[in-house]
Amino acid sequence: MRADKILVHFNQVFNPYDKGQPLTKDDLNTAEIIEDGYIAIQDGKILAIGSGEPAEELVGDETEIIDYSGKTATPGLIDCHTHLVYGGSRENEFAKKLNGVPYLDILNEGGGILSTVESTQKASFDELYSKTNRLLNYMLDHGVTSVEAKSGYGLNWETEKRQLEVAKKLNDDHSIDLVSTFMGAHAIPTDLKENSDVFLDEVIDMLPKVKEENLAEFVDIFCETDVFTADQSRRLLQAAKDLGFKLRIHADEVDPIGGVDVAAELETTSAEHLMKITDDGIQKLAEAGVIANVLPGTTFSLMEDTYAPIRKMIEAGVGVTLSTDCNPGSCPTANIQFIMQLGSFMMKMTPVEVFNAVTINAAYSIDRADTVGNFTEGKKADIAIFDTPNVDYAIYFFGTNLIDTVYKNGEEVVH
Ligand code: NIG
Ligand code: FE
Repeated sequence: MRADKILVHFNQVFNPYDKGQPLTKDDLNTAEIIEDGYIAIQDGKILAIGSGEPAEELVGDETEIIDYSGKTATPGLIDCHTHLVYGGSRENEFAKKLNGVPYLDILNEGGGILSTVESTQKASFDELYSKTNRLLNYMLDHGVTSVEAKSGYGLNWETEKRQLEVAKKLNDDHSIDLVSTFMGAHAIPTDLKENSDVFLDEVIDMLPKVKEENLAEFVDIFCETDVFTADQSRRLLQAAKDLGFKLRIHADEVDPIGGVDVAAELETTSAEHLMKITDDGIQKLAEAGVIANVLPGTTFSLMEDTYAPIRKMIEAGVGVTLSTDCNPGSCPTANIQFIMQLGSFMMKMTPVEVFNAVTINAAYSIDRADTVGNFTEGKKADIAIFDTPNVDYAIYFFGTNLIDTVYKNGEEVVH
């Protein structure tokens, strides 16, 4: 079969193994690494990969050959945890953070998430669309080709719906693929602070509407001290599961209050944050096959010392991913490369583990491993090309955007 185009002479092609489930333990530190590699593309999909001169049967008169000598190709990166659609910004909280005011104190004073809720409720569809479009452009420039996007700055149906519709439209309009998560239970409106069950019921009532209008695949909840309890999280997620949603949960971000138990019981696709996860919690995730979405940028941005114990999780056999958590409060960044570097610098992951975490494992975390995450024939030709000789260099040389070119569905979208 002839290729439409063949990208040739990569110093390194990094191809994660797809073993039908997230890579764990020692597998996480392995990959097919091809020197002098090529990637053949046909109709926007991967046709073949190999080393040296492309196999003869791939090359026809019309085949475009593009030279990438000295560079490294990996599957398009996947940012599998973001709070992408929001109004306003929160640089005004920065001085408080510098003075050591805790994240939950800011929220309890009506700031934090609640201040973004106010800005988001006021923002029009077009305002949210253009802000989110800008974030997606930053992400694409850093090599990201798929993104999970949560709602959660509405706290009412009208605004939640607007957030989800913005994500849906951008999935159509932008090169990046978006996977939507409904996170109506992200905070408690101030007037219902003492009646959080009433608000939770309102969120549960939104679920059928989200389903009917096909606005999200996943449902998530912030299980945290002063936000939603483990019992409340169980109640919402069970209702979502009954309606056919896939599940995720914000657990053990500030305090370990049982979110991980809920994740294990309901076999959520992922549990997210986990900065304060206990050894027992790690064991539960491993046994239930729940993916751990780890967000070291949040620890960094909250100026805390406690990074999630990802080495322990890997050791216990948990499938791990890394993502930005991109949001205006606890992690204002769109740069997944920096997050990947924190994975190594602060949590001692190897570069191979890091790249697997943001490709094949992240693909499982958003339920897209059938179409992205590695260079299996027939998957989307989503390719991040780094101006580096290998993946090790892309982690070691930190803080700089090292992307040379990005292909989405076989088309060059960043150069
Ligand atoms: O993942 N934990 C809750 N939600 C976000 C923060 C959102 C915000 O501060 O605006 C998080 O950290
Ligand atoms: Fe988050």
